[in-house]
Amino acid sequence: MVSVCSECGARAPGDAIFCPACHGLVVLQLEAIAPDAAALRRTFAERRLSNAAIDRSGVWRFRELLPSIPDECVVTLRENDVPLYAAPGGGDFADATAVAYLHLGMNPTGSFKDAGMTVAVSHAKACGTWVAVCASTGNTAASMAAYAARAGMAAVVIVPAGGVSESKLVQTLDYGATVAAIEGDFDRALAMIRTFESDRVAILNSVNPYRIEGQKCAAFALLEASDWRVPDWLVLPGGNLGNTSALGKGFREALALGLTTRLPRIAVVQASGAAPFARLFREGGELVPVKAETDATAIKIGAPASWKKALAEVRVSNGVAIAVDDSEIADARAAIGRDGVGCEPASAASLAGLRRLRRSATIARDENVVLVLTGHLLKDTAYAAQYHASGAPFANAVVRPKDARALRDLIERAGAVHA
Ligand code: F0G
Repeated sequence: MVSVCSECGARAPGDAIFCPACHGLVVLQLEAIAPDAAALRRTFAERRLSNAAIDRSGVWRFRELLPSIPDECVVTLRENDVPLYAAPGGGDFADATAVAYLHLGMNPTGSFKDAGMTVAVSHAKACGTWVAVCASTGNTAASMAAYAARAGMAAVVIVPAGGVSESKLVQTLDYGATVAAIEGDFDRALAMIRTFESDRVAILNSVNPYRIEGQKCAAFALLEASDWRVPDWLVLPGGNLGNTSALGKGFREALALGLTTRLPRIAVVQASGAAPFARLFREGGELVPVKAETDATAIKIGAPASWKKALAEVRVSNGVAIAVDDSEIADARAAIGRDGVGCEPASAASLAGLRRLRRSATIARDENVVLVLTGHLLKDTAYAAQYHASGAPFANAVVRPKDARALRDLIERAGAVHA
């Protein structure tokens, strides 16, 4: 693969994150590989039957399409081996008939970050990096901490004090990373990080192009799970917008290699208090940063670093970017739960967004839609507990039967629903 600037197109050194010429974000480009799509598909399918960790990983299984890294440097936890679930309840919620969840929360540390981290940490290990650092709203932190631990590398994460869910913090501490909580938000933490780049320090935010290479594999995993049929729409939450640029790249490469015949339309959904990208999509011009506010803390980001790359992906796919309110996210998250599938609030922006896009008739009722669930329910149980103690539509409070008879009545009433 070759490193080029996503803005000025100049060739960049292999390890660069920012272009030395114009400070744009560097991307990795596939050099011509002989595109024998049928053979590639067969190879990917055969690897799923192997017990070797790099074959079972839903990232390294696609290694022909990744930067080459010596086998002994690959740090994997069998990430991105993720399910595509039918979403009947989510479909009813949004008035759509062909909806599925791509559940990236079913990753080793419970979020989509693992797919990117396996590549970025492996590359850092191959480069002899001593310390991995990142700014995070929680999931990047937990994921980086786990992969750095596996790599025998030190890890330092910078988080907004009071702005990260307890579960994500605890994961990060458990995996042994140093957690530095700062006054200020994610955007401030990310701005600080940029100044730390050096030979011995790896910045593992999604500005790192190796992260993007791993995360693009979620597109391949989705295609593989649908026998290489492309959905009409892919709907996903947007924060720093690395994942939008990664998935868009994955689908573009699949098309260029002849693995598929078209692109899905990409719909990016932001929380209305943290929606500079949705505004940019509506009004055009340059991205105007905002002071972000939302209960979906994972996407509480006001100055997304990858907005230019994400905009290019949305445009080329004939997609859209919209915003939804926190209350819509809250109900959508609980509705997803009724399908027996648990996700964290940010992930549910996808279903809340689908409902809006159905109401505006941007998406037709019977179009094939895949909702990307980016993080697991257990990532933010405090949020879910608060919802169920409220009077919201899907709230489900604990009941306290006073005796055995009341308990029997309760069970009969529950059963009567199915009578
Ligand atoms: N969903 C979840 C659960 C996330 O944790 C994030 C980002 C996003 C969506 C948005 O993805 O930034 O690529 O547009 N979390 C980062 C973090 C910022 O630090 O964990 P994006």
